[in-house]
This record gives sequence, C-alpha cells and structure tokens, in this order.
Amino acid sequence: MTSPPPQSSGSTEPTGSTDHFDLCSLEDLKAKGALSFDFVHSRLGRHEIAVFWDGVDVFALDNYCTHEGAMLSYGDIGPGEVICALHSAVFSLKTGACLDGFTSDTVAYEASVRDGRVWVIAPGETRAQPLTHTG
Ligand code: FES
Repeated sequence: MTSPPPQSSGSTEPTGSTDHFDLCSLEDLKAKGALSFDFVHSRLGRHEIAVFWDGVDVFALDNYCTHEGAMLSYGDIGPGEVICALHSAVFSLKTGACLDGFTSDTVAYEASVRDGRVWVIAPGETRAQPLTHTG
C-alpha cells in the first residue's frame, strides 16, 4: 500500500505528484460523516469524490450512485457501507461494489489519515473549484 506524503498546507502535496490529495481534517469528517470534493478527471471530466467516516475508518468513493446519480455523501453510513438515499442501493465503502446487486459498482479510491488529515489517492485527477450558482 502506498502511503500519502506528509501533510502540506495546500490541497495537493507540493512535490510534483498529482495523485495525492489532502482533502480535509479527520475531525471535520468525523463531525459530518461524509464530505464531497470537486475534481476533474483527465479523461472523464468533472465529478465529485466523497470521503466517508464509518466510525472506524475513512473511505473514498465517486460521489454518484450508479443507479440514477444520487449523491452517496447524502446516504446512510453503516459499518463499511453506504446506503443510497434515493432507492437504497448498498455500496461497499472499501471497494465500491454494490453489495445488494441493485445496480452496478462504483469507483473506490484509496483513502488514509496522516497527521489528522484525510488523504485520497486519485490518479489522473485534479482538484476543481466548486460550482457556484447565481440567482
Ligand atoms: S439513485 Fe441510488 S439507488 Fe437509485
């Protein structure tokens, strides 16, 4: 298993690798249960990666349910799994597999904690600014 580099002050580590992303504090993630972050994949385009805390460990998944696209960060989090808020598909937080066979699997990313920060390894990705909505 590859460990992320030591904590940096920015959102990505400064040594040139673009695969490792420092997303949030573990404290913030524990308080919310799930948080989502905007990314752009070099081939697939804009999307969100969500990080989860299940009471024991941190995990990261593509934030969109493979059934009809509901945000998994709004789902119910249980030990090692998240249940989609829209139609209750159950996904493994570790592998992204749809555990109940309701829909197809989603993408899981390697997540870890270092120095109180939540890191995700996401090859081919860059961070994107959140979309803003104007009235
Ligand atoms: S959108 Fe997730 S189960 Fe339907």
